[in-house]
Amino acid sequence: MIDKEVALVTGAGQGIGLATVRRLVADGFHVVMIDRNPEPLATAAAQLRAASNSIEHHVLSITDRPAVAELVGALIASLGRIDVLVNNAAIFWDGKFDATTEDDYTRMYEVNVIGTFVVSQEVVKVMQRGGRIINVASRAYLAGYAHAPYITSKAGTVGLTRGMAIDLAERGILVNAIAPGLIETDMFRSLTPGRQQELIAKQPTKTVGQPDDIANGIAFFADPRTRNVTGQILALDGGRSMGISLY
Ligand SMILES: NC(=O)c1ccc[n+]([C@@H]2O[C@H](COP(=O)([O-])OP(=O)(O)OC[C@H]3O[C@@H](n4cnc5c(N)ncnc54)[C@H](O)[C@@H]3O)[C@@H](O)[C@H]2O)c1
Repeated sequence: MIDKEVALVTGAGQGIGLATVRRLVADGFHVVMIDRNPEPLATAAAQLRAASNSIEHHVLSITDRPAVAELVGALIASLGRIDVLVNNAAIFWDGKFDATTEDDYTRMYEVNVIGTFVVSQEVVKVMQRGGRIINVASRAYLAGYAHAPYITSKAGTVGLTRGMAIDLAERGILVNAIAPGLIETDMFRSLTPGRQQELIAKQPTKTVGQPDDIANGIAFFADPRTRNVTGQILALDGGRSMGISLY
């Protein structure tokens, strides 16, 4: 068995996932990177491996249960442990409720909620006492214009976090979530400049967060010293969840 703690991060090829990988490697974890998009993942992993051999990467979709189960089995055979799971992979787009197709609605739910459920369920089969699961939700689970499928999926992520936290507490597995606000990644850059400015204006801080800000919160829940905390949703959102734009 490897003598380091092992952390598995989904959606690790770019953005918040990649920042989380960097942070967890710096914190002493062996990190398993997962993404469905092969090229950015391979490039990022190669760059990180130049500085650390505590990195491996695997291409798969979090919704592909047989592939996830096969990977978990292979990791247990090679490393002997999975201590931390960061469910970060998700998809997003802007779109008004009445223009949303049923297919689009279903697809976002499938990746953001069912994918998180699938990876968690497969990992929990092998996770020992002391394991930590961190789900990346979004501040948008509370509300937001033109986001109905995304709000649904992130409210689902929050509900799943609480349900898992309760059911896994007696096994000594802690489950928490981060609710990021606006973070400067491709997901945010996919919005039009006008929409970006509109959203920034709603932030009490009038700023966009950086991927490292979220990695820092994830690192808190991943730290083995963070004990006795489960079922919590930590908003890292420039204060937007206070609802200040309503006043
Ligand atoms: N950027 C923001 O403003 C923001 C705000 C709130 C919440 N979030 C959440 O933070 C997380 C990361 O977002 P980001 O901004 O870094 O996004 P991003 O789009 O830059 O990166 C997401 C990564 O997930 C991967 N991915 C998508 N579907 C996948 C699947 N089925 N299987 C495996 N990998 C898959 C993508 O290939 C990509 O590498 C997401 O859960 C997102 O909802 C982001």
